[in-house]
Amino acid sequence: MSFQPYTRFEPFRIKSVEPLGFATAEERRAALERAGLNVFQLRADEVLIDLLTDSGTGAMSAAQWGAMQLGDESYAGSRSFFKLEAQVQKITGYRHVLPTHQGRAAEHILFSAVLTPGAIVPSNTHFDTTRANLQLAGVEARDLLIEVGRQPMREHPFKGNLDVEALEALIAEVGRDRIPLVMMTITNNGGGGQPVSLANLRAVSAICRRHDIPFFLDACRFAENAMFIKLREPGYAESTPLEIAQMMFALADGCTMSAKKDGLVNIGGFLALNDDDWAERCRNRMIPIEGFPTYGGLAGYDMEALAVGLDEVLDPRYLQYRLDQAAYLGDRILAAGVPIVRPTGGHAVFIDAGALLDHLPWHAFPGAALSAALYEVSGVRTCEIGSLLFDLKDADGADAPAPNELLRLAIPRRMYTRSHLDYVAEAVAYIAEHRHEIRGLRFTYEAPVLRHFTARFAWEERASVGIHQASGVGRQQAVRAM
Ligand code: F0G
Repeated sequence: MSFQPYTRFEPFRIKSVEPLGFATAEERRAALERAGLNVFQLRADEVLIDLLTDSGTGAMSAAQWGAMQLGDESYAGSRSFFKLEAQVQKITGYRHVLPTHQGRAAEHILFSAVLTPGAIVPSNTHFDTTRANLQLAGVEARDLLIEVGRQPMREHPFKGNLDVEALEALIAEVGRDRIPLVMMTITNNGGGGQPVSLANLRAVSAICRRHDIPFFLDACRFAENAMFIKLREPGYAESTPLEIAQMMFALADGCTMSAKKDGLVNIGGFLALNDDDWAERCRNRMIPIEGFPTYGGLAGYDMEALAVGLDEVLDPRYLQYRLDQAAYLGDRILAAGVPIVRPTGGHAVFIDAGALLDHLPWHAFPGAALSAALYEVSGVRTCEIGSLLFDLKDADGADAPAPNELLRLAIPRRMYTRSHLDYVAEAVAYIAEHRHEIRGLRFTYEAPVLRHFTARFAWEERASVGIHQASGVGRQQAVRAM
């Protein structure tokens, strides 16, 4: 006998549980109203299943909680720092490791220490904080994603790849001196959590080395990217995720990292790099704003948990489960006739809200409208990744549309089971049936930077029946689905 199971399951058992926040339909409606229709302004207790982000929201392992007891809280020269440093060096190979409280602090330190106003920093796609930190430094963030990466329904194994010809053309056009840095986001969060191939990283690396331009990875989801390479890129099926990660990092000169993603921790990050001069500038920049270089923005116990998390995240069994989970939710949503970015990314399912709500123009923010409506009917919280978040401007400084109006259903790591995802898929199918009842949004408040976090909206006026009258996945149904 040889048992060949086809059931895929979570590669862990659950030791500690936390109740979900069950709100009634009425409570959700009131909460949404109070939040100005912006799900970032909800209280977490008002949310049933929280797919707002996969950042800092995952479950830590027993080994990580245990390691926290070993935290060395010394101000200088903490043992926990050296543990973290060794772990980061093992994976990245970079000489200098600067711990930070999260990814955006690493970005801020790097950009403010080494960039000067007027520069351009190309990337496949800069994510929101990276873009904002570049803008704060007076630097232009330029996205050079391959064309197919902008087309949600087109299949391609590495839709996060950077357009290398466009990079060459940009360098030729503006000159090497205006491009002090090239970045690549792995996986490409803004474009659907899509991976970047080793071949593409190699090509970008070669261009950067030829022009003597430092090349950095925004490495938040490096392990998921490595697993995609193992599964999809010819020649790497036998390599371990760690070996692939080492190859990826070896092609670049440094990285910024939000450890709240593939560090498997609730808070943390780091900046790692090879160049001694840049490292010194970054350390000097870091001390007044983040902390002494052997703790950055972290407690000793945070660094312990992160050192363990960086190990656990590279377990191929964990990574297979992780990618399966997103693919499972994606398949269920697609089966309900809802367009999504295909293939499914590593950390999230991205619904093509622009296509689903094709009665709404981009400036009525179909992704954010869908997010509000989905929360209202089901208690599921999601995040718009479209014109609201990207906040692009045209040459005249007027608001411009993002390439796509997406709604991200980000899956926290090791947190929700398959039946939670079944409930989410059911809620999405319901809202899709009622899509014509969803109205557009207009601002009642808009902040100058990172406006999506604090914006307030009103539904646009429309005579027909609103989602308010038609909705009905209330507490009863939520309980039944569990
Ligand atoms: N880079 C990428 C690609 C990210 O996705 C994020 C965060 C950051 C940088 C910044 O890291 O939050 O630790 O400061 N993304 C979260 C998200 C917030 O929901 O995707 P941070």
